[in-house]
Amino acid sequence: MEAYKHLIDDAIAYAKEKAGDKTREEQIALATDKLFVLFGKEILNIIPGRVSTEVDARLSFDKEGSIAKALSLIELYKEEGIAKERILIKLASTWEGIQAAKELESKHGIHCNMTLLFNFEQAVACAEAGVTLISPFVGRIFDWYCKNTDKKSYDRHDDPGVFSVKRIFNYYKKFGYKTQVMAASFRNTEEIKGLIGCDLLTISPGLLGELAKDLEAVPVVLTEESAKKSALDKIEATESRTRFEMNEDTMATDKLSDGIRRFAADARSLEKLVAEKL
Ligand SMILES: *[C@@H]1O[C@H](CO)[C@@H](O)[C@H](O)[C@H]1NC(C)=O
Repeated sequence: MEAYKHLIDDAIAYAKEKAGDKTREEQIALATDKLFVLFGKEILNIIPGRVSTEVDARLSFDKEGSIAKALSLIELYKEEGIAKERILIKLASTWEGIQAAKELESKHGIHCNMTLLFNFEQAVACAEAGVTLISPFVGRIFDWYCKNTDKKSYDRHDDPGVFSVKRIFNYYKKFGYKTQVMAASFRNTEEIKGLIGCDLLTISPGLLGELAKDLEAVPVVLTEESAKKSALDKIEATESRTRFEMNEDTMATDKLSDGIRRFAADARSLEKLVAEKL
């Protein structure tokens, strides 16, 4: 968009100025990171809250690489005068991503938003790692069930994405985890109505518009009180358990791999754009 074109030019200029003895690859990476940060700053200018900036999906299985990338993003924000308190580093919920988040939170006080989260075990591992926020994808779970099973329609009471988030919310509240649950990727307002009471929700303008016109009185479904009564047992998210349980879950395995491939493809096309400008 024309309105944001100057952000690209600014990011390129920045990378050129800092070129020094950097390789071309390093310059491209710096320009790309700078671009993320300039967009993040633009958003922070109009909202009071936090903004998420994503670590390159190609680092999804590289703990140290993810940490280094997160630290450099936070440093770039600092140069722009933005404190780490206003930033969430978004990482894929692979075992390595979760361990990177654990270190970022505990050693560096950097807040993380765990994405591509489709499964209960991933959520438990995130809570044990002490991450600030998880963003489980309701709609992508729904998509998978519509595509891969005979049942093609769901409501708030049987939607598998809604069910997944409810279970995670109940587990977190029952066992006193501080990690916030911010359900995301909604396909319809039924899914939203099925999760009233969740800590946070990411809702698109289109669905917010539908809700604004909707006069149904919706009850709160998720509460700490009912979570405490839920029949969930405490589990320990060891590496071997988390990996095994993920592998048992065809939907979560498919969706995690697919999500990483898509984000990696996005990263490559952005890199190409940046490389041409450089
Ligand atoms: C966290 O990431 C999800 C995508 O996984 C996004 O929808 C959500 O808005 C992010 N949350 C915050 C507070 O930035």
